[in-house]
Amino acid sequence: MFRTIEWLDDNSVRLVDQTKLPLVVEHIVTRRHERIARAIKDMEVRGAPAIGAAAAMGMALAAIESHAKSKEELLQFLEGAARTLNTRPTAVNLTWALDRMLRVARASSGNPDEIVERLVKEAKTIAEEDVQMCRRIGEFALPYMKPGYTIQTICNAGSLATVHLGTVGAVIRLAHEAYDGAIRVYAAETRPRQQGARLTVFELMEDNIDTTLITDGMIGTVFREGRVDCCVVGADRILKTGHVINKIGTYTMAIAARYHNIPFYVAAPTSTFDFKTSPEEVVIEERDGDEIRKINGEYVTVPTVKVYNPGFDITPPDLVTAIFTDRGVIERPDEEKIMGLFGTRLSGRWGGRLPATGQY
Ligand code: MRU
Repeated sequence: MFRTIEWLDDNSVRLVDQTKLPLVVEHIVTRRHERIARAIKDMEVRGAPAIGAAAAMGMALAAIESHAKSKEELLQFLEGAARTLNTRPTAVNLTWALDRMLRVARASSGNPDEIVERLVKEAKTIAEEDVQMCRRIGEFALPYMKPGYTIQTICNAGSLATVHLGTVGAVIRLAHEAYDGAIRVYAAETRPRQQGARLTVFELMEDNIDTTLITDGMIGTVFREGRVDCCVVGADRILKTGHVINKIGTYTMAIAARYHNIPFYVAAPTSTFDFKTSPEEVVIEERDGDEIRKINGEYVTVPTVKVYNPGFDITPPDLVTAIFTDRGVIERPDEEKIMGLFGTRLSGRWGGRLPATGQY
Protein backbone atom coordinates (compact mmCIF):
# COMPACT_ATOMS: atom_id res chain seq x y z
CA MET A 1 0.00 0.00 0.00
CA PHE A 2 1.05 3.59 -0.69
CA ARG A 3 1.53 6.13 2.08
CA THR A 4 -1.68 7.85 3.16
CA ILE A 5 0.10 11.07 4.11
CA GLU A 6 3.43 12.36 2.85
CA TRP A 7 5.56 15.46 3.27
CA LEU A 8 7.00 16.22 -0.18
CA ASP A 9 10.40 17.76 -0.89
CA ASP A 10 8.82 21.00 -2.15
CA ASN A 11 7.29 21.55 1.33
CA SER A 12 3.79 20.48 0.37
CA VAL A 13 1.68 17.71 1.89
CA ARG A 14 0.06 14.94 -0.12
CA LEU A 15 -2.99 13.06 1.17
CA VAL A 16 -5.00 10.27 -0.40
CA ASP A 17 -8.59 11.55 -0.74
CA GLN A 18 -10.46 8.86 1.20
CA THR A 19 -13.92 10.16 0.29
CA LYS A 20 -13.30 9.00 -3.31
CA LEU A 21 -12.00 5.50 -2.57
CA PRO A 22 -12.29 2.78 -3.71
CA LEU A 23 -13.55 3.88 -7.11
CA VAL A 24 -11.05 6.69 -7.67
CA VAL A 25 -7.53 6.99 -6.25
CA GLU A 26 -6.92 10.72 -6.10
CA HIS A 27 -4.53 12.86 -4.04
CA ILE A 28 -4.88 16.25 -2.41
CA VAL A 29 -1.65 18.27 -2.54
CA THR A 30 -1.50 21.46 -0.49
CA ARG A 31 0.78 24.02 1.16
CA ARG A 32 -2.00 25.48 3.34
CA HIS A 33 -2.89 24.38 6.84
CA GLU A 34 -6.53 25.45 6.34
CA ARG A 35 -6.81 22.89 3.53
CA ILE A 36 -5.52 20.20 5.90
CA ALA A 37 -8.09 21.33 8.50
CA ARG A 38 -10.85 20.95 5.89
CA ALA A 39 -9.53 17.52 4.86
CA ILE A 40 -9.74 16.34 8.49
CA LYS A 41 -13.20 17.85 9.03
CA ASP A 42 -14.64 16.41 5.78
CA MET A 43 -12.95 13.04 6.38
CA GLU A 44 -10.82 13.20 3.23
CA VAL A 45 -8.25 11.99 5.74
CA ARG A 46 -9.61 10.03 8.70
CA GLY A 47 -8.58 7.41 11.25
CA ALA A 48 -7.02 8.48 14.55
CA PRO A 49 -3.27 8.18 13.79
CA ALA A 50 -3.75 9.57 10.26
CA ILE A 51 -5.48 12.74 11.45
CA GLY A 52 -2.74 13.16 14.09
CA ALA A 53 0.01 12.96 11.45
CA ALA A 54 -1.97 15.21 9.07
CA ALA A 55 -2.46 17.79 11.83
CA ALA A 56 1.28 17.76 12.63
CA MET A 57 2.03 18.41 8.96
CA GLY A 58 -0.66 21.13 8.98
CA MET A 59 1.23 22.82 11.84
CA ALA A 60 4.49 22.61 9.88
CA LEU A 61 2.76 24.18 6.85
CA ALA A 62 1.35 26.90 9.12
CA ALA A 63 4.85 27.63 10.43
CA ILE A 64 6.08 28.13 6.84
CA GLU A 65 2.97 30.17 5.95
CA SER A 66 3.40 32.53 8.91
CA HIS A 67 6.52 34.37 7.60
CA ALA A 68 6.93 35.36 11.25
CA LYS A 69 9.64 37.86 12.19
CA SER A 70 9.90 36.74 15.83
CA LYS A 71 9.33 33.64 17.92
CA GLU A 72 6.34 35.32 19.64
CA GLU A 73 4.72 36.08 16.29
CA LEU A 74 5.29 32.50 15.16
CA LEU A 75 3.82 31.05 18.37
CA GLN A 76 0.73 33.22 18.05
CA PHE A 77 0.20 32.07 14.47
CA LEU A 78 0.72 28.43 15.45
CA GLU A 79 -1.79 28.64 18.31
CA GLY A 80 -4.38 29.94 15.83
CA ALA A 81 -3.48 27.15 13.40
CA ALA A 82 -3.89 24.54 16.16
CA ARG A 83 -7.42 25.84 16.83
CA THR A 84 -8.21 25.68 13.09
CA LEU A 85 -6.84 22.14 12.76
CA ASN A 86 -8.66 20.80 15.83
CA THR A 87 -11.81 19.90 13.90
CA ARG A 88 -12.80 16.48 15.29
CA PRO A 89 -13.23 15.90 19.02
CA THR A 90 -12.97 12.17 19.68
CA ALA A 91 -9.62 10.84 18.43
CA VAL A 92 -7.01 11.97 20.96
CA ASN A 93 -4.19 11.60 18.42
CA LEU A 94 -5.27 14.91 16.91
CA THR A 95 -4.78 17.02 20.06
CA TRP A 96 -1.75 14.90 20.96
CA ALA A 97 -0.04 15.87 17.68
CA LEU A 98 -1.05 19.55 17.89
CA ASP A 99 0.21 19.74 21.45
CA ARG A 100 3.48 18.06 20.58
CA MET A 101 4.11 20.50 17.72
CA LEU A 102 3.32 23.51 19.95
CA ARG A 103 5.59 22.15 22.65
CA VAL A 104 8.48 21.85 20.21
CA ALA A 105 7.89 25.40 18.97
CA ARG A 106 7.74 26.81 22.52
CA ALA A 107 10.88 24.95 23.61
CA SER A 108 12.91 25.96 20.55
CA SER A 109 15.44 28.75 20.64
CA GLY A 110 16.91 30.47 17.60
CA ASN A 111 15.39 32.60 14.87
CA PRO A 112 11.95 31.84 13.36
CA ASP A 113 13.49 30.15 10.29
CA GLU A 114 15.32 27.67 12.51
CA ILE A 115 12.13 26.95 14.49
CA VAL A 116 10.21 26.40 11.25
CA GLU A 117 12.84 23.91 10.16
CA ARG A 118 12.54 22.10 13.49
CA LEU A 119 8.76 21.89 13.13
CA VAL A 120 9.01 20.41 9.63
CA LYS A 121 11.42 17.84 11.03
CA GLU A 122 9.10 17.07 13.95
CA ALA A 123 6.10 16.53 11.64
CA LYS A 124 8.15 14.09 9.53
CA THR A 125 9.27 12.34 12.73
CA ILE A 126 5.66 11.94 13.92
CA ALA A 127 4.78 10.33 10.58
CA GLU A 128 7.82 8.05 10.67
CA GLU A 129 7.18 7.05 14.29
CA ASP A 130 3.63 6.13 13.31
CA VAL A 131 4.91 3.67 10.70
CA GLN A 132 7.29 2.11 13.24
CA MET A 133 4.63 1.95 15.99
CA CYS A 134 2.27 0.11 13.66
CA ARG A 135 4.92 -2.44 12.78
CA ARG A 136 5.66 -3.09 16.46
CA ILE A 137 1.92 -3.49 17.17
CA GLY A 138 1.82 -6.17 14.47
CA GLU A 139 4.89 -7.91 15.91
CA PHE A 140 3.52 -7.96 19.47
CA ALA A 141 0.16 -9.26 18.21
CA LEU A 142 1.58 -12.06 16.07
CA PRO A 143 1.67 -14.77 18.81
CA TYR A 144 -2.07 -14.18 19.38
CA MET A 145 -2.91 -14.80 15.71
CA LYS A 146 -2.73 -18.43 14.56
CA PRO A 147 -2.42 -19.85 11.03
CA GLY A 148 -5.89 -20.31 9.56
CA TYR A 149 -7.50 -17.63 11.78
CA THR A 150 -10.41 -15.54 10.56
CA ILE A 151 -10.36 -12.03 12.02
CA GLN A 152 -13.47 -9.87 12.41
CA THR A 153 -12.89 -6.12 12.18
CA ILE A 154 -14.96 -2.94 11.88
CA CYS A 155 -14.37 0.45 10.28
CA ASN A 156 -10.89 0.99 8.88
CA ALA A 157 -7.82 0.78 11.10
CA GLY A 158 -5.60 -0.14 8.19
CA SER A 159 -2.99 1.71 6.16
CA LEU A 160 -5.49 4.40 5.30
CA ALA A 161 -6.17 5.18 8.96
CA THR A 162 -2.46 5.66 9.69
CA VAL A 163 0.55 6.85 7.72
CA HIS A 164 1.24 3.33 6.48
CA LEU A 165 0.52 -0.30 7.41
CA GLY A 166 -2.25 0.39 9.94
CA THR A 167 -2.81 -0.79 13.50
CA VAL A 168 -5.27 -3.58 12.82
CA GLY A 169 -3.75 -3.49 9.33
CA ALA A 170 -0.35 -4.40 10.80
CA VAL A 171 -1.82 -7.26 12.85
CA ILE A 172 -3.47 -8.69 9.73
CA ARG A 173 -0.57 -8.04 7.34
CA LEU A 174 2.15 -9.44 9.59
CA ALA A 175 0.09 -12.58 10.27
CA HIS A 176 -0.68 -12.92 6.54
CA GLU A 177 3.05 -12.68 5.81
CA ALA A 178 4.10 -15.06 8.62
CA TYR A 179 1.51 -17.73 7.79
CA ASP A 180 1.83 -17.72 3.98
CA GLY A 181 -1.54 -16.08 3.47
CA ALA A 182 -3.46 -18.38 5.84
CA ILE A 183 -5.41 -15.50 7.41
CA ARG A 184 -8.94 -14.41 6.52
CA VAL A 185 -10.79 -11.22 7.38
CA TYR A 186 -14.48 -10.42 7.87
CA ALA A 187 -14.99 -6.68 7.41
CA ALA A 188 -18.14 -5.05 8.80
CA GLU A 189 -19.38 -2.41 6.34
CA THR A 190 -19.58 0.27 9.09
CA ARG A 191 -22.72 2.36 8.66
CA PRO A 192 -23.12 5.17 7.90
CA ARG A 193 -19.78 6.20 6.31
CA GLN A 194 -18.91 2.71 5.03
CA GLN A 195 -15.22 2.80 6.03
CA GLY A 196 -15.26 -1.01 6.21
CA ALA A 197 -16.81 -1.52 2.79
CA ARG A 198 -15.00 1.30 1.01
CA LEU A 199 -11.58 1.34 2.67
CA THR A 200 -10.81 -1.88 4.56
CA VAL A 201 -12.02 -4.14 1.76
CA PHE A 202 -10.12 -2.03 -0.79
CA GLU A 203 -6.76 -2.08 0.95
CA LEU A 204 -6.88 -5.73 2.05
CA MET A 205 -7.84 -6.91 -1.42
CA GLU A 206 -5.01 -4.78 -2.89
CA ASP A 207 -2.71 -6.92 -0.69
CA ASN A 208 -4.39 -10.18 -1.75
CA ILE A 209 -5.78 -10.86 1.72
CA ASP A 210 -8.86 -13.11 1.77
CA THR A 211 -11.66 -10.68 2.71
CA THR A 212 -15.43 -11.11 3.20
CA LEU A 213 -17.75 -8.12 3.56
CA ILE A 214 -20.76 -8.25 5.91
CA THR A 215 -23.25 -5.66 7.12
CA ASP A 216 -22.95 -4.53 10.75
CA GLY A 217 -26.20 -6.33 11.63
CA MET A 218 -24.75 -9.70 10.60
CA ILE A 219 -22.02 -9.75 13.25
CA GLY A 220 -23.98 -11.84 15.80
CA THR A 221 -24.93 -14.42 13.18
CA VAL A 222 -21.37 -14.69 11.89
CA PHE A 223 -20.19 -15.30 15.48
CA ARG A 224 -22.94 -17.84 16.19
CA GLU A 225 -22.07 -19.73 13.00
CA GLY A 226 -18.44 -20.00 14.17
CA ARG A 227 -17.06 -18.14 11.18
CA VAL A 228 -14.51 -16.03 13.06
CA ASP A 229 -11.77 -16.81 15.58
CA CYS A 230 -11.17 -13.35 17.04
CA CYS A 231 -12.03 -9.67 16.69
CA VAL A 232 -9.36 -7.03 16.19
CA VAL A 233 -10.45 -3.39 16.18
CA GLY A 234 -8.70 -0.02 16.29
CA ALA A 235 -9.23 2.81 18.76
CA ASP A 236 -9.65 6.57 18.68
CA ARG A 237 -8.87 6.93 22.37
CA ILE A 238 -8.03 4.51 25.18
CA LEU A 239 -8.42 5.76 28.73
CA LYS A 240 -6.21 4.74 31.65
CA THR A 241 -9.20 2.78 32.95
CA GLY A 242 -9.01 0.63 29.80
CA HIS A 243 -12.19 2.04 28.22
CA VAL A 244 -11.85 1.90 24.44
CA ILE A 245 -13.45 4.57 22.29
CA ASN A 246 -13.80 3.47 18.68
CA LYS A 247 -16.16 3.56 15.69
CA ILE A 248 -19.85 3.15 16.44
CA GLY A 249 -20.68 -0.56 16.42
CA THR A 250 -17.52 -1.62 18.24
CA TYR A 251 -19.30 -1.91 21.61
CA THR A 252 -22.06 -4.07 20.11
CA MET A 253 -19.41 -6.29 18.54
CA ALA A 254 -17.60 -6.63 21.89
CA ILE A 255 -20.83 -7.68 23.64
CA ALA A 256 -21.57 -10.27 20.94
CA ALA A 257 -17.97 -11.52 21.11
CA ARG A 258 -18.21 -12.03 24.88
CA TYR A 259 -21.51 -13.93 24.51
CA HIS A 260 -19.89 -16.25 21.95
CA ASN A 261 -16.52 -16.57 23.79
CA ILE A 262 -14.60 -14.95 20.96
CA PRO A 263 -11.45 -13.01 21.98
CA PHE A 264 -11.85 -9.27 21.50
CA TYR A 265 -8.55 -7.48 20.80
CA VAL A 266 -7.79 -3.77 20.35
CA ALA A 267 -4.75 -2.54 18.41
CA ALA A 268 -3.50 1.01 19.11
CA PRO A 269 -0.29 3.04 19.36
CA THR A 270 0.92 5.08 22.35
CA SER A 271 -0.50 8.26 20.78
CA THR A 272 -4.05 6.89 21.22
CA PHE A 273 -3.82 6.67 25.03
CA ASP A 274 -5.40 9.47 27.07
CA PHE A 275 -4.46 9.37 30.75
CA LYS A 276 -6.41 12.46 31.78
CA THR A 277 -10.00 12.03 30.69
CA SER A 278 -12.67 9.98 32.45
CA PRO A 279 -15.24 7.94 30.47
CA GLU A 280 -17.93 10.53 31.33
CA GLU A 281 -15.80 13.38 29.97
CA VAL A 282 -15.08 11.87 26.54
CA VAL A 283 -16.65 13.91 23.76
CA ILE A 284 -18.30 11.61 21.24
CA GLU A 285 -18.59 13.31 17.86
CA GLU A 286 -22.20 13.62 16.77
CA ARG A 287 -22.42 13.76 13.02
CA ASP A 288 -24.90 15.16 10.50
CA GLY A 289 -28.18 13.27 10.36
CA ASP A 290 -28.11 13.25 6.57
CA GLU A 291 -25.29 10.67 6.76
CA ILE A 292 -28.05 8.26 7.82
CA ARG A 293 -31.03 9.74 5.98
CA LYS A 294 -29.24 9.55 2.64
CA ILE A 295 -27.36 6.92 0.68
CA ASN A 296 -25.29 8.13 -2.28
CA GLY A 297 -26.84 11.57 -1.93
CA GLU A 298 -30.46 10.31 -2.14
CA TYR A 299 -32.93 10.22 0.75
CA VAL A 300 -33.82 6.68 1.76
CA THR A 301 -36.20 7.75 4.53
CA VAL A 302 -38.63 10.51 5.35
CA PRO A 303 -36.35 13.56 4.98
CA THR A 304 -37.67 15.18 8.17
CA VAL A 305 -37.14 12.15 10.45
CA LYS A 306 -35.14 12.78 13.63
CA VAL A 307 -31.75 11.06 13.59
CA TYR A 308 -29.23 10.20 16.30
CA ASN A 309 -25.78 9.76 14.76
CA PRO A 310 -22.91 9.33 17.25
CA GLY A 311 -19.70 8.54 15.37
CA PHE A 312 -18.11 6.49 18.15
CA ASP A 313 -18.93 4.33 21.17
CA ILE A 314 -17.23 3.31 24.41
CA THR A 315 -16.35 -0.32 25.15
CA PRO A 316 -15.68 -1.02 28.84
CA PRO A 317 -12.44 -2.83 29.74
CA ASP A 318 -14.13 -6.00 30.99
CA LEU A 319 -15.11 -6.80 27.39
CA VAL A 320 -11.53 -6.41 26.12
CA THR A 321 -9.34 -9.54 26.01
CA ALA A 322 -6.13 -7.63 25.30
CA ILE A 323 -4.76 -4.40 23.85
CA PHE A 324 -1.90 -4.70 21.35
CA THR A 325 0.30 -1.59 21.63
CA ASP A 326 3.70 -0.61 20.24
CA ARG A 327 5.15 -1.16 23.73
CA GLY A 328 3.70 -4.59 24.41
CA VAL A 329 0.42 -6.38 25.04
CA ILE A 330 -1.92 -5.52 27.92
CA GLU A 331 -4.08 -8.56 28.69
CA ARG A 332 -7.36 -7.98 30.57
CA PRO A 333 -6.60 -4.23 30.73
CA ASP A 334 -7.05 -2.20 33.89
CA GLU A 335 -5.58 1.01 35.24
CA GLU A 336 -2.71 -0.66 37.04
CA LYS A 337 -1.55 -2.61 33.99
CA ILE A 338 -1.94 0.36 31.64
CA MET A 339 -0.06 2.77 33.90
CA GLY A 340 2.50 0.04 34.54
CA LEU A 341 3.27 -0.12 30.83
CA PHE A 342 3.17 3.63 30.14
CA GLY A 343 3.43 5.49 33.45
CA THR A 344 7.13 5.98 33.88
CA ARG A 345 8.20 5.72 30.27
CA LEU A 346 5.95 8.57 29.13
CA SER A 347 8.28 11.12 30.69
CA GLY A 348 11.25 11.79 28.49
CA ARG A 349 10.40 11.91 24.79
CA TRP A 350 7.42 14.24 25.25
CA GLY A 351 8.81 16.16 28.21
CA GLY A 352 6.85 14.21 30.79
CA ARG A 353 3.54 15.77 29.73
CA LEU A 354 0.64 13.49 29.15
CA PRO A 355 -1.55 13.77 26.04
CA ALA A 356 -3.28 17.09 25.72
CA THR A 357 -6.76 18.30 26.47
CA GLY A 358 -6.76 20.44 23.35
CA GLN A 359 -6.82 23.81 25.13
CA TYR A 360 -4.81 26.29 23.07
O1 MRU B 1 -14.58 8.38 11.73
P1 MRU B 1 -13.28 7.71 11.39
O2 MRU B 1 -13.28 7.01 10.08
O3 MRU B 1 -12.12 8.66 11.54
O4 MRU B 1 -13.12 6.61 12.52
C1 MRU B 1 -12.00 5.77 12.52
C2 MRU B 1 -12.03 4.71 13.53
O5 MRU B 1 -12.93 4.61 14.33
C3 MRU B 1 -10.84 3.80 13.59
O6 MRU B 1 -11.21 2.52 14.02
C4 MRU B 1 -9.82 4.38 14.58
O7 MRU B 1 -9.54 5.71 14.28
C5 MRU B 1 -8.57 3.60 14.64
S1 MRU B 1 -7.56 3.89 13.26
C6 MRU B 1 -6.09 3.07 13.43
